[in-house]
Amino acid sequence: MTQGKFITLEGGEGAGKSTQVKRLADFLRTKGREVVQTREVGGSPAAEEIRTFWLLKGEGHWDPLSELFLIMAARREHLVKTVFPALARGAWVVCDRFVDSTRVYQGIAQGLGSTLVESVYRGVAPGFEADLTLLLDLPVETGLERMRARRGQDDRYQQKPVAFHQKLRDAYLDLARNHAQRFRVIDAAADADSVALDITRVVGERFGDL
Ligand code: TMP
Repeated sequence: MTQGKFITLEGGEGAGKSTQVKRLADFLRTKGREVVQTREVGGSPAAEEIRTFWLLKGEGHWDPLSELFLIMAARREHLVKTVFPALARGAWVVCDRFVDSTRVYQGIAQGLGSTLVESVYRGVAPGFEADLTLLLDLPVETGLERMRARRGQDDRYQQKPVAFHQKLRDAYLDLARNHAQRFRVIDAAADADSVALDITRVVGERFGDL
């Protein structure tokens, strides 16, 4: 049995990741793959419990370092209970956010620093990275407008100033440049159909054996 593939989608608020995760999973199923569609923070029963009591709290409820450990605990649960078994049986796992979110949100935007994030992650899953990471990139203002239109959902960082969101975008683009083998940057300002088409093209290029 060949090992499956692990594809992650990343991006700031309002980039349309959830829609595209679903569309990519559906596309891969039409190619005859077993697909596990999942997300972080969450993706296993215990990790979803952590999401519930972490994410829906307002700004300042959690100390940023406590948040880092909550997120990493959820990640460990998700990997051990959902992702690793799926990959071991040859499934393709499509995941809405992964450790790059922690690198960007906690490491850079919250200011905990990359050294700390990397050292905690080494304890959780040493050396484990996605086979492909799709960065859904779009101007901050466009993302914020989309978020305002669907207000009321997970509100964790949405009230933060524009400068915070710009920092997230810049940090993601830096990561993509520094890990160019793993990342592909997708223009997420386009309509959902065009973005989905772009993603299937990129996935086809990356994994020729689809
Ligand atoms: P979502 O809206 O994509 O489900 O993500 C919810 C929030 O969780 C989003 O504001 C980003 C945040 N988050 C982190 O801060 N660090 C992480 O490691 C992950 C996975 C998410």
